[in-house]
This record gives sequence, structure tokens and C-alpha cells, in this order.
Amino acid sequence: MQLKYLYSFFKTFQIPGLFSVFSDFKGIVRYHFLYAAVESGLLEALKTPCSRDNLIKKLSVKNPDILDALLKVGISLKELNCKKDHYGIRGKRSRAMVGAYGDTLSAVIQANVTYYNNSYRYAAARMKGAGLGDDLRHSGDIIARFSKLSDPVIKTFLRDIVPQGPGLRVLDIGCGSGLLLKSMMQINPGLSGLGIDIDDAAIRQAMQNTKKWGVSENFKIVKGDIQDLPDDIPGFDLITMVNLVYYFPVGQRPKLFKTLRSRLTTGGSLAIIMNMQGKETDFGAANLNMANASMRGVTPLPDSATLQEQLKESGFSTVRASDLMPGSSFVGMLAK
Ligand SMILES: C[S@@+](CC[C@H](N)C(=O)[O-])C[C@H]1O[C@@H](n2cnc3c(N)ncnc32)[C@H](O)[C@@H]1O
Repeated sequence: MQLKYLYSFFKTFQIPGLFSVFSDFKGIVRYHFLYAAVESGLLEALKTPCSRDNLIKKLSVKNPDILDALLKVGISLKELNCKKDHYGIRGKRSRAMVGAYGDTLSAVIQANVTYYNNSYRYAAARMKGAGLGDDLRHSGDIIARFSKLSDPVIKTFLRDIVPQGPGLRVLDIGCGSGLLLKSMMQINPGLSGLGIDIDDAAIRQAMQNTKKWGVSENFKIVKGDIQDLPDDIPGFDLITMVNLVYYFPVGQRPKLFKTLRSRLTTGGSLAIIMNMQGKETDFGAANLNMANASMRGVTPLPDSATLQEQLKESGFSTVRASDLMPGSSFVGMLAK
């Protein structure tokens, strides 16, 4: 390359901010690549190195130009390699996404490229009155898979609050994948109860998972709105709401909490686990809050103090809140 081109290239990079913008650009291209590679089945197919012709067959490709382009992006990002005309997985993110926790990692990518992305893409219009997004209608499966990420800290909190002893009953509202029921049963194998969710895809996951995990004898999974729970169901010793309160408008929460309180046995408690309005540096909570503010069916994240007041207003005499993650506003609340 002639020196004059090198000179003008470096001059371009003197534009303030351009270097930083380009560094972020690569991250975004990687996210998009991973999204397409998961959705198309490319990563799954490349668990075993594969020729282009074989990929075309395996993935039922009708437009090879797009497959070729995607493979090129993967190689440019060092996510893929090509040896002796066989493509394979090279990058640590791609490798992890076909590994043991691949499904959860894939859900993080899928959430960011779809509904999180939409909340920024349409923010300008929505801020000025355009209708909110209906992303929730199509995202139940991704949300339930993404939520598994916080499972280890939730489990630690559960160990403090799940009641011990035989014959106790729990209700998990918005049960998503059903993982919370499994975690509670690992803490007290004598538990039984109910998981309820309003979303079809989440219910499908919860039913399949509870069967797979061998806990379906103890927990019934029902599709429905918690606000319509029939009256003839026996009381619960613990009711859990994980990543759920923002599905209810602020003004309706005291009524919901009152109803839930009436469903508790004497001495029973209500546990709320979720992100609250965050500290300034909590970008995860800020991002979730952004998505929530711009989608139909959810509200911005609640403020912890207001939520505690609403619980007391609803008849709970004590509310204890614990920070569950360092530097984050992910909180576990126990109301009695
Ligand atoms: C963000 S997800 C959390 C899922 C799960 N609790 C977790 O943390 O993995 C919230 C879930 O609550 C469900 N949900 C929302 N409103 C509900 C309602 N009124 N009754 C029952 N489930 C509801 C949604 O369908 C969704 O699956």
C-alpha cells in the first residue's frame, strides 16, 4: 500500500470518537452474526466441521449468497474457520453457544437483537406518541430462556425463604420455564403446588421441563392470568413472583398484593425477586427499563421503596429486601 493511503487512513481515525464507535461496531456485527448463526442452525450444524455443499443441504438453503456472506462474516470475526474446504467453529462465544449453557447464551443474543433492539430503534417515534411495541406477544420463549441466567443467585435467596417441612404448598406466578419450581423442590423435596403463566410458549416450556426434571407429580402447570385464579384452590405457604411485578400497572399492584395475601396460609409469605430502578451504573437494569418503557403490557421497573410501601399498604406487616447481585438493583423481597 502506498504511504499516502496509509496517511489518509490514519487521518480519518483522528475524527474524535471514530475509533470508539468502530470498536463498538465490531461488537454489534458479532451480535448480528451470532443471532443469524443460531436462528439458521449454522452453529448447531458446525458442531462437526462441514463443507459448504453439506451446509446447504443441512440448513435447507435456497439462497446460497446469504450463507456465503454469513460464513465470510463469521470468518472475519474469527468466530468460524475454514480448513480444507470444511467450515468449523473457532471463536469462544460461538463455541460456548453450542455448549452446556448455549441455550441461555443464545437467548441473551436473541433478546438483544429483537425486542431490546426495537426499544431503541423505535424510541424516537414512541417517545413522541407512536404506539408501543407488541414484542411481548412473540418473545415469551426467549424471555423464559434468558431469565435462567439469574438462577444461581435466586437459588441462594430461595435457600433462606423456602419453608421446610412436609406437606407445604407453593405458587409460582409467571413461572416461565418452570425452573424456579425445580429449584424450590431441590431445597424442600416435600413441596407441591402450582406454576401459572399467561403465555402459551412459556407454558409449553414449563410443562416439558417439569416432566423432564421429574417434578411434574408435585407441581401442576396451568395456563392463565393470576388475576383469575379460581377461589377453590387451597392456600399456599409461599407465593413467588420472579421478574413479574412490572407486568401489572402501578395502580393495580396493591389490589393484586391484597388478593395474594388472602391466598397465603397463616405465617405464609410472598417473595418478589427482580430488578428495581437501578443505581446509575447498572446498565443491565437501565436497558431492561428502556425495553419495559417502550413495550405494551409492561411498565418501567418499580422503585424499591414504593414497592415496599405498596406491600405494607396491602396488609403485609414486614417487608425485608436483600440485594442479590453486586453493583446491580436485582433484589429479593420477602413480605409476611
Ligand atoms: C419476565 S418473565 C419471568 C419468567 C420467570 N418467572 C423467570 O424469572 O424465569 C414473566 C412471565 O410472567 C408471565 N405473566 C405476565 N403476566 C402474567 C399474569 N397476569 N398471570 C400469569 N403470568 C403472567 C409472562 O407470560 C412471563 O412468562
